[in-house]
Amino acid sequence: MNRYRYLTEDIIEKIEECRKKFPYREQCIIPTLHHILEKYRDIPGEAVFELADYLQVPPADIEGIVSFYDMFRYRKNAKNHIRICRNLPCHLANYQSLLEDIKKLTGAEVGKNSPDGMWYIELVECIGSCGIAPAFLINNDLYDGSKIKDIQQLKQILDRYL
Ligand code: FES
Repeated sequence: MNRYRYLTEDIIEKIEECRKKFPYREQCIIPTLHHILEKYRDIPGEAVFELADYLQVPPADIEGIVSFYDMFRYRKNAKNHIRICRNLPCHLANYQSLLEDIKKLTGAEVGKNSPDGMWYIELVECIGSCGIAPAFLINNDLYDGSKIKDIQQLKQILDRYL
């Protein structure tokens, strides 16, 4: 039976496929981190230790890779992760005002958990939804900021995640 929480059978299968292609097990770190990212949308800290155990490499080697590449993000501890796009179309659609309202309602600052541990806010690059700028994600749910008329409506959305 699989003793890992995050290295599920499908991920282990992919690691094994990778191991057949490359002579060094370290060469499977980055491809596996991509699979983990695809599945969980971020990198749970525990997954790093599980992968290190599975590949028999030092966890620090994997941590170094996760911290070095922007595309890999560690899971934040907050219950909900809000990602707000700050690229040009969202900038022109005034994502800043949306951000201010979200900060006010959650008590979180960009890059910091809210004091109650419910929210983490991150400013991100284009999330491929420029047509609904300013676009933002709450966990895996995409929102069209232009449809939010006032802070009360925004509060109703956030309340769904409490
Ligand atoms: S620029 Fe914001 S979603 Fe593309």
